[in-house]
Amino acid sequence: MIKIAPSILAADFAKLGEEVKEVEAAGAHLIHIDVMDGHFVPNISFGAAVMASIKPYTTLPLDVHLMIENPDDYIEEFAKAGADYITVHVEACRHLHRTLQLIRSFGVKPGVVLNPHTSVDSIKHVLGDIDLVLLMTVNPGFGGQKFIESVVPKIAELSYIIQERGLDIDIEIDGGITAETIVPCAEAGATIFVAGSAIYGKEDRTAALQAILEAGEK
Ligand code: DX5
Ligand code: ZN
Repeated sequence: MIKIAPSILAADFAKLGEEVKEVEAAGAHLIHIDVMDGHFVPNISFGAAVMASIKPYTTLPLDVHLMIENPDDYIEEFAKAGADYITVHVEACRHLHRTLQLIRSFGVKPGVVLNPHTSVDSIKHVLGDIDLVLLMTVNPGFGGQKFIESVVPKIAELSYIIQERGLDIDIEIDGGITAETIVPCAEAGATIFVAGSAIYGKEDRTAALQAILEAGEK
């Protein structure tokens, strides 16, 4: 079974509560929260206060993707604001194992994110400490970018390692996901799919979400 995580980065920020309710009713499984600081990535989105304000509008797990420098300084704030998952970029963590432990100490599920160029080898030694690996299929910073196809073999590589070691880890894909691009990713073993513009950019969000889900389940 695959899961869809709409990214509110592509939603109307003036009515986030309604935007989240709409995708929950449409069949979403998680809400993806893209946090950008203007340093790790060249864009600024929003922080924990905004996330806390949408929390009462949904029963879905909040999947927090931190695209920020010094994530350790903000983990407690996001945990208290209602995060269910917090993922940090391996490229932003000098002491990755410590950061993952910090996330779990607040009762939040930890995950690691890899940029398109970053190898699976960089996280082999923390696979026992995480619930989720998020593989970027665009360079982080903006919604609406083109899917980078060369990441697909990395999904298969990671999926093989997870199965071989008998681990219970979801592989999440983020960037340029549509009803077309989801297909090779699902075949390669990914289980959770972020979609921003392909859902919130469409008039009929329910039809858009269901089309992506059906394409991924085939
Ligand atoms: C990119 C973000 C993504 C983005 C996806 O930096 O991490 O989650 O919102 O947007 P789409 O689906 O439009 O590529
Ligand atoms: Zn994201």
